Amino acid sequence: MSDVVIPVRAERAYDVVIGRGLLSHLPGMVAGSARVAIIHPGALLVSAEGVRDDLRDCGIEVTLIEVPEAEDAKTAEVAAFCWSVLGTAGFTRSDTVVGLGGGATTDLAGFVAATWLRGIRVVQIPTTLLGMVDAAVGGKTGINTDAGKNLVGCFWSPAGVLCDMNALGTLPRNDLLAGMAEVVKIGFVADPSILDDVEQNPFGSTDVVGDLLADLVRRAVQVKADVVGADFRETSATAGDGSIGREVLNYGHTFGHAVERRERYRWRHGAAVSVGMMYVAELAALGGRLSEKDVDRHRSVLTSLGLPTTYAPGHWDELYSSMAVDKKSRGSLLRFVVLQGIGHPMVLEGPDPALLAAAYASISDSSA
Ligand code: GLY
Repeated sequence: MSDVVIPVRAERAYDVVIGRGLLSHLPGMVAGSARVAIIHPGALLVSAEGVRDDLRDCGIEVTLIEVPEAEDAKTAEVAAFCWSVLGTAGFTRSDTVVGLGGGATTDLAGFVAATWLRGIRVVQIPTTLLGMVDAAVGGKTGINTDAGKNLVGCFWSPAGVLCDMNALGTLPRNDLLAGMAEVVKIGFVADPSILDDVEQNPFGSTDVVGDLLADLVRRAVQVKADVVGADFRETSATAGDGSIGREVLNYGHTFGHAVERRERYRWRHGAAVSVGMMYVAELAALGGRLSEKDVDRHRSVLTSLGLPTTYAPGHWDELYSSMAVDKKSRGSLLRFVVLQGIGHPMVLEGPDPALLAAAYASISDSSA
């Protein structure tokens, strides 16, 4: 597959490049910077050193900032550590942060870049499927606090995103499958042809050396680019074309975030979103919006990818309170993206609490 370039037209225009071996694109994306800081987890030290050496060959001063793995990186303390490194290295407004890693690393790197000197350039190099199709594209940045996930953050577009499919070669299988939850999410809300392909070829759709997965990434990123271009700050009730705007990307996330919080972020985000999609599918069916056949389609696609579709019973009060403080709520009303048929999302505001509890009962399984 040759490199594919997907332009994103948000508050700034930038390109998402998808291909194999993309580092030749990086110097152009950091052009004009005297200094670059690469924020990366320890497991990616060798890759970070490779990027550093390439940039040094271009005469750029490079600082590596090693941060904890996964969600442990998304704390105020780690962000403060990164700011102190940028300060010591003398980072100015024309310098660049590079986020190299999974979605948590790119969320943190984006947040650090967005807040240093009120905003410096960030280039994202996602190394997980979830990062490529969701976290690194679209300019949502943030950290977690005791109050909840991603409640502190800002919108800050990257200057470019490099999705090197070769990076997926060393990704643990469960992380790849968790990333597929976000791919499938795009299929449910916007591009059902993604679901068709996953159903017809579940092996090929998760084969990191084949072309199908790269094509699924391309189609998922294209949808995200279109959605973010129409509603960057997730403020529109409807986007320009009458669709529901960026909120559509939250499909499965309201319940999913509550699960992640209850599990102290030890669940993979994609696994929680998978259960969250199952929850809103059941909610939509209970409200007469989605057929049982479409609910079953959720279950079968997610199960074929080894993703969870049930959650332990007996935790409704805790999950409900958690959803109430999620940023997807507005005022005192809970909001859920639900489907009125595959590819036809809508926002359900303030649903009947009895319906919400019934949807939880539908996905509850004591063996989960
Ligand atoms: N991850 C959802 C969004 O970027 O809006």
